Amino acid sequence: MSEMTLRRAHVSDHGTIVERVRHWWGDSRTPVQARELSLLLPRLFLQFFAGTSLVLEDDDGIKAFLVGFHAADNDHEAYIHFVGVAPELRGQGVGRRLYTAFFERAAEAGRREVHSITSPMNTGSVAFHRAMGFTLEEGDREVNGFPVHGDYDGPGQHRVCFRRHLAIQPS
Ligand SMILES: CC(C)(COP(=O)(O)OP(=O)(O)OC[C@H]1O[C@@H](n2cnc3c(N)ncnc32)[C@H](O)[C@@H]1OP(=O)(O)O)[C@@H](O)C(=O)NCCC(=O)NCCS
Repeated sequence: MSEMTLRRAHVSDHGTIVERVRHWWGDSRTPVQARELSLLLPRLFLQFFAGTSLVLEDDDGIKAFLVGFHAADNDHEAYIHFVGVAPELRGQGVGRRLYTAFFERAAEAGRREVHSITSPMNTGSVAFHRAMGFTLEEGDREVNGFPVHGDYDGPGQHRVCFRRHLAIQPS
């Protein structure tokens, strides 16, 4: 395997990222579910937030990505919307590398807090976010032992909400 390099994303990555999501999740979900997941990544994220999104690639192309942005409504928050790692590379520090790079860039830009969410059924994602230093925000119910915000993204769409403080970078 060739060495992986990290770079900011470009709008031209959009098609590949959507294809990767459908492919990488194809084994664990039905084709319809994998397609639904890819719909969480409309082109706008790569059109308007490519500068804060990241891609890891080797000679064979994109192997992992992070889509995130800095809040437009305030100057202190950042948000990670979607992360994906090729199944054969999971559990090897790739997700940590992407998140750490996002944290560093956000802190350099003066952001002091990162947010993210996941489904309470995605216990792996909860464990990953905890390992990355996130705390779970208090919710209005408990699912799978996690504090959960009921109907957060619409009826029946409950979510675990994460928050992580970022240290201010010395200027
Ligand atoms: C979740 C995901 C992004 C994590 O990326 P990764 O490269 O596998 O994670 P890393 O190897 O960098 O792990 C970082 C830390 O998280 C922990 N972790 C990662 N996945 C975990 C899991 N499924 N269960 C428990 N812990 C996990 C690791 O043990 C590691 O902890 P440590 O550094 O303290 O030893 C990746 O596995 C993935 O794409 N999963 C499927 C998609 C998904 O669920 N995405 C939603 C995320 S919101």
